[in-house]
Amino acid sequence: MSDSTVALVFGGRSSEHSISCISAAAVWDALEATGHTVLPIAVTPSGAMVRYDERPSDLRGVELPIVVEGSASVVFTTDPTIHGVLVDGEPVRVDVVFPVLHGPWGEDGTIQGLLELAGLPYVGSGVLASALCMDKLTLKQVLQAAQVPVTPWVPIVGDAWTRERDELVTRIGELTPVVFVKPSRAGSSVGISRIEQAGGGTLGVDFIGALEAALDDARAHDPRVVVEQGMVGSREIECAVRQDANGQVSVSVPAEIRVREGFDFYDFDAKYIADGAELIVPADLDPRVTARIQALAERCFRAAGCEGLARVDFFVRDEQVVVNEVNTMPGFTPISMFPRMWEASGVPYADLIDSLVGEAMARRPGLR
Ligand SMILES: Nc1ncnc2c1ncn2[C@@H]1O[C@H](COP(=O)(O)OP(=O)(O)O)[C@@H](O)[C@H]1O
Ligand SMILES: [Mg+2]
Repeated sequence: MSDSTVALVFGGRSSEHSISCISAAAVWDALEATGHTVLPIAVTPSGAMVRYDERPSDLRGVELPIVVEGSASVVFTTDPTIHGVLVDGEPVRVDVVFPVLHGPWGEDGTIQGLLELAGLPYVGSGVLASALCMDKLTLKQVLQAAQVPVTPWVPIVGDAWTRERDELVTRIGELTPVVFVKPSRAGSSVGISRIEQAGGGTLGVDFIGALEAALDDARAHDPRVVVEQGMVGSREIECAVRQDANGQVSVSVPAEIRVREGFDFYDFDAKYIADGAELIVPADLDPRVTARIQALAERCFRAAGCEGLARVDFFVRDEQVVVNEVNTMPGFTPISMFPRMWEASGVPYADLIDSLVGEAMARRPGLR
């Protein structure tokens, strides 16, 4: 039990604003249950930071909660001597920050940079690891260098599509029959398309047309686009990683996401709206495959320089295990995979939250 003040930052500008609010409601309860004082700070969809005192249960009742205003303005300053925030201009001391923010402007190193300037310890990865794991293209290169198998891909950045279209089309052809087109830095499946080349062979006009439309969709979210081989017939498996206050890294039992009939893939609706997926915790896997997944999850965590926590997502087909992505601030709703994998590994929700806060406070400040 501790009596530290935890600034709980939630909401945010990304498409995962509501998910963050629901996560924060549960984290808030767990922080209070383990003796922490919560300073609730919401980031509105337009980016304003406000104090938001309403009880988390009020947020939880709404299907997709959105915070548009609060009771006071909040500012993180660049003056570390304040060791806290300004609430309506008045300094309020904060011991540690828990940024339960997902996606761009939250999970991508930007808020972490702000917290570095403010000189405040915070839960989760630092600036570099957060930005790295947010950018699917760069993460692939780093993981590959660490001998972690990743989904084969073709990058499309800058004006590459106009400069070297033919070469790109040839390389994308080698990834077919199914490809996924994704913004490099997004989240919650926004801007992602699945395209299938019927019948194999050279790419038809239908495929190229669908590809160009998919590139436009992805570029609406990020000028950096990744075209990936579709892992047809693979299972989606996730594994949670965390660090305790001594810096010790541990991995959870893996879990499986089974997308229900009628959904193309684990898209936004399937994830958050239509209950489009079944979560199986722990996953039913051969013990050798489980061991491989756990070892790779830990290797990803270390290779990317993550801190505190991460959820590593895989595609698994028989013995073949490849990494899809690494999430540095996964969902924390009571039904989210990250806390459920830890529950199934013997770590109850409140203990998990308390230990993440303890780990963040034990970490030495420095270049992150
Ligand atoms: N290469 C792929 N092969 C098969 N399915 C994929 C592939 N890439 C993405 N998907 C599907 O799309 C979903 C979202 O993609 P993901 O890369 O995890 O993006 P996000 O960061 O939005 O979660 C995955 O959970 C999976 O269902
Ligand atoms: Mg994902």
